[in-house]
Parts: sequence; C-alpha cells; structure tokens
Amino acid sequence: MKIIVAGDYQEMSRIAANIIAEEIKKKPDLVLGLATGSTPLGTYRELVRMYKEGKLDFSRVITFNLDEYYGLSPDDKRSYHYYMYRNFFDHVNVRPENIHIPDGTARDVEEECLRYDEEIKKCGGIDLQLLGIGVNGHIGFNEPGDELLTATHLTDLAPDTLAANARFFGSIDEVPRKAITVGLGTIIQAKKILLLASGPEKAAIMAELLDDDAVSTRVPASFLLLHRDVTVVMDKDAAAKKR
Ligand code: PGA
Repeated sequence: MKIIVAGDYQEMSRIAANIIAEEIKKKPDLVLGLATGSTPLGTYRELVRMYKEGKLDFSRVITFNLDEYYGLSPDDKRSYHYYMYRNFFDHVNVRPENIHIPDGTARDVEEECLRYDEEIKKCGGIDLQLLGIGVNGHIGFNEPGDELLTATHLTDLAPDTLAANARFFGSIDEVPRKAITVGLGTIIQAKKILLLASGPEKAAIMAELLDDDAVSTRVPASFLLLHRDVTVVMDKDAAAKKR
C-alpha cells in the first residue's frame, strides 16, 4: 500500500483528483469506479475544475458507482443518483450512456444486481476504483459481518452506518435500511484502488486498518491489504492515530 498523508482535506482532494486525472490521460476510456459520501466531494470539485479549465476530458470515461439506497428513486435528493449528477456528472462531459449506478427502485433486485455485475464485466472490469471508508471499516456498503459477499447484492446497513448517514436524512429513522452495493469481489478485482479518508472520526479505523496487518471480515477494508496497487490518501486528522 502506498500511503500519502495530506495536510488537510483540500490537499487530500487535490492529490486524489490528480491521481484520477493521470489515469484518464493514460487511458481515455478508463473504467472508473466512483464513491459517494462526504469524503470524495472535494475530489469531484477538483475534477470539475480541471474539466472546466480544459485539462481533462471525460468523453470516453465509463463510470460505475459503488452503491445506491434501496427504495430511493433517482430524482430523490437523498439518492446517490442525485448526488452524483449534482456534484459531478452535471458539470463534466461523461456521456450519459457511460454512467452506471445501481437502480435502487428495481422491481427485481436480484436481476438488477446480476445486470450490474454483467455490465462491469462487459466493460472489462474496473480500472480505477475510488473508495471512502466507513467508521466501521465498510467499503461501498459491504458491512462488517461473518462473511462478505463477492457479487453485487442487496444488504442491510449496519447500525454504525445508519447513524453516520443520518446527517443526510434529518434523522436516523429516515435512513433507508437497505442498499444495493457492489461486492468485495468487484472492488478487489479493480486494477488500481484509491482509498480516501478524512477527519478525526476516521482516525481509529485507519489506525486499525494500517497498523494491524491482518485481514478480517469484521473490517471489510482490510481486504485491500491483499491488493497489489492501493493508494491511500488521508488527511492529517484521519492519520492521527496511526503509529
Ligand atoms: P463519508 O462516507 O465519506 O460520508 O464519511 C464514507 C463511507 O461510508 O464509505
């Protein structure tokens, strides 16, 4: 693992955007796995800036988002569809047909999960996967448990996740209890992985992840330790408890 500690959130975001931009320049038809949440917002802002300055072209980039809340329609302001368009897709030239996000309103969820994995496979897998990390060590919505699933699936959100995401919904009772997420298999098969962490609330999980040197389904992100090409970019606050 390559570990970069940035001075602050802005610097973390700039470094992350530069890594993504370099990969797009090397491979204009990059298959880019995307994440939501607070952490990547600055990265998306930087990528939009680069695009607006004419330094980056997304016209051949293919994107796959990690997850979507079950039951939220794409036009629901709290959905990850809405988040992605508002924070990124509306401001860059990714072609609509190259955007993939799981459909949280699919009538046949199992079918939707199979379709999603099939699409990823058809595109040759993920080249670069952008990830955040939950306070409980989840990546995507692969929550800690006795086992982790490899394929895209419908999952119950962990209590820690419901609590952490309540801020986007007004109250914890409003947070959907389920989500569709790509599985650990899709993530770990990405050719390159970029994990971001920011803020003091991520310090404990980052220390556990980076200092323990062990893999456990109790810390889904620990499986990244088995991958050959992971870059971790975190700010000083997230790195504060690391040895
Ligand atoms: P956050 O979420 O960026 O909003 O902290 C990260 C995650 O849950 O993966």
